[in-house]
Amino acid sequence: MNKITEPVITLALSKGRIFDDTVPLLAEVGIQVTESPDTSRKLILPTSDPHLRLLVVRASDVPTYVQYGAADIGIAGKDVLYEHVKEHPGGLYQPIDLDIAKCHLAVAVRKDFDYEAAVKQGARLRVATKYVNVAREHFANKGVYVDIIKLYGSMELAPLVGLADAILDVVSTGSTLRANDLVEVEYVKAVSSRLIVNQASLKTRTQYLQPFIDAFAKASQGNK
Ligand code: ATP
Ligand code: PRP
Ligand code: MG
Repeated sequence: MNKITEPVITLALSKGRIFDDTVPLLAEVGIQVTESPDTSRKLILPTSDPHLRLLVVRASDVPTYVQYGAADIGIAGKDVLYEHVKEHPGGLYQPIDLDIAKCHLAVAVRKDFDYEAAVKQGARLRVATKYVNVAREHFANKGVYVDIIKLYGSMELAPLVGLADAILDVVSTGSTLRANDLVEVEYVKAVSSRLIVNQASLKTRTQYLQPFIDAFAKASQGNK
């Protein structure tokens, strides 16, 4: 009988690009993920390592699972982490940049909107975003007055239907902006995903967690 004598480490991550980019990192350290969240409805996935299981959660919920200790470790984008930490500081270490799910946060407007002129004139801008804290800070630093309109997705639609003058969203290839006749007018910050760790877990379960943290650090070297 294969008896598990050490505690199981729980890793929270989102399906889609973060899951897809994490599978090769785990493979590099000899861990296979035997089921895919695309084909399985299971939310707790086993791995080939009996000491590691995965929780499949929404991208923006990953820091919450780790902060409360429901997961020991997690993988989340810096965009999500920035917003989470602003609203719920403490309880999380962010030890490793995994250099996966790379993109950047940017301000974009309709092609026919003169952003520079609007800023120069001191116009009050309506900005649609799910990154309300990043947006507040970005425009405050520029001295631009904004009304933030919180959205949960499809931000690119907002300027097309008169909901907003500008959006602040993640951009990777730029194809979503192009497909919707929007242009990037400001680069806000680079984004990639980090390994995050529950502080209490790290203190009380160091001997079990540290090997996984070291393995992720080593595997992510290949992405640098
Ligand atoms: P949800 O689907 O739950 O609303 P989401 O759209 O943020 O969440 P994903 O699209 O899987 O979920 O994005 C997860 C993370 O991947 C983001 O937080 C960001 O860091 C990064 N990301 C988002 N879009 C891109 C992209 N087009 N290219 C590369 N990385 C991206
Ligand atoms: C993300 C993001 C942008 C797009 C940017 O959407 O919200 O819309 O990617 O990538 P691009 O510059 O390469 O076009 P995603 O594909 O995650 O769809 P979603 O709306 O379901 O989050
Ligand atoms: Mg997305």
